[in-house]
Amino acid sequence: LTKMAEPYKIKMVEPLKIRTKEERIRLIKEAGYNPFLLNAEDVYIDLLTDSGTSAMSDNQWAGMMLGDESYAGSKNYIHLVEVVKDIFGYNYVVPTHQGRGAEKVLFPVLVKKGQYVVGNMHFDTTKAHIELSEGIAVNLVTREAEDVGNYHPFKGNFDIEALKSFIEEKGPENIAFILATVTCNSAGGQPVSMENIKEVRKMADKYGLYLFFDAARFAENAYFVKQREKGYENKSIKEIVREMFSYGDGFTMSAKKDALVNIGGLIAIKDDVELFTKVKTMLIPMEGFVTYGGLAGRDMEAMARGLEEVLSEDYLSWRINQVKYLGDKLREAGIPIQYPTGGHAVFIDGKKFLPHVPQEQFPSHTICVELYIEAGIRAVEVGTLLAGRDPVTKKEILPALDFVRLTIPRRVYTNSHMDVVAEAVKRVYARRDSIKGLRFTYEPPILRHFTARLEPV
Ligand code: F0G
Repeated sequence: LTKMAEPYKIKMVEPLKIRTKEERIRLIKEAGYNPFLLNAEDVYIDLLTDSGTSAMSDNQWAGMMLGDESYAGSKNYIHLVEVVKDIFGYNYVVPTHQGRGAEKVLFPVLVKKGQYVVGNMHFDTTKAHIELSEGIAVNLVTREAEDVGNYHPFKGNFDIEALKSFIEEKGPENIAFILATVTCNSAGGQPVSMENIKEVRKMADKYGLYLFFDAARFAENAYFVKQREKGYENKSIKEIVREMFSYGDGFTMSAKKDALVNIGGLIAIKDDVELFTKVKTMLIPMEGFVTYGGLAGRDMEAMARGLEEVLSEDYLSWRINQVKYLGDKLREAGIPIQYPTGGHAVFIDGKKFLPHVPQEQFPSHTICVELYIEAGIRAVEVGTLLAGRDPVTKKEILPALDFVRLTIPRRVYTNSHMDVVAEAVKRVYARRDSIKGLRFTYEPPILRHFTARLEPV
């Protein structure tokens, strides 16, 4: 066969409502031109996030019925720990309610006031928790990530030279730890190569630093390594994951992505028992007792099963190719996207799409609003609206990467949905010259993109 369809069949459906264009114009206006403030029911195709939006399998749902809701020592916790040990080779594991719960518990243990946490590119809640721990978040992603239109197989890589000089300039005693985000969400869902991870490990050893992973999309990263990196063609996804994580000291994970569950997170530590003791001490007041960490037993069972399912190459190949399918359709129509397409989303270059809209008027966010009006599609801005203002000067930060993220939930939409999305983006692109930017009517002081209200300029 030259073309494979979904490697699953659908046995439960959730009907969607389709609002008329007039209704959508009214609804987005009432929502202050902010798709976060729309009711989900008013959205036809929801590409806001791939987080917590996956469809679980029959096997995961069956596991939900086996929830052991004991406060301590739940059998689902024991199963989850076994699965994590088997896949990642890490000995010490605790659940958390989601990824940021893991960050909230781990970071204060690792960060001393004024220390740097260097990463390829931190996710926004990750940056926020570094700062809440009185650390300073630093991004040292390869410069190729900014070369939006051109192919590079691993745009999520660390700039190793920059990493080395940063550590030497600041002194290793002023670095709390290194954090590798796989795949690198903020750079466009772009993977990090095994070679790069090994180089980062060498740096960590040389300067006596911990290397942690932000492992939300670990399996998608492993799939790209298999596809694009020499020497990994014939390895299984599980072998690749095992090798990747052998270079780390631990990870935080939002299980709402590659663990294929609607809620949950993890902290895992390879072998540092002292560090694990500190983590457990923090976990109990923050998230809950060690063997549930804010989750029900049934949630832990679904997560354990999801972690095993996501290693399926048939699944990953379908998943990554669905994202690519949408990316290719847009690229063929001349629409500027982060290329190659990442693992979980197609990222449109908003500045190139709407060159006449000043960055201060949020070109990428404006495109999200237009996509809702055009076809009831909800996308999300990862650009100037999200970046916010400089905390000192209060000036708008104008990030180099200003994207519309069309984020594809896992196992939820078919390629017919992707066709509708592609057509809608093309239609908005065709009338781009007449599109005007947006300005605030209400600007929240922090994390403004979630609740801001705007109006057309
Ligand atoms: N790290 C990465 C790389 C993420 O993408 C996210 C969440 C988190 C940590 C935080 O995890 O949401 O479970 O608390 N990303 C979502 C997104 C929200 O839409 O990209 P969480």
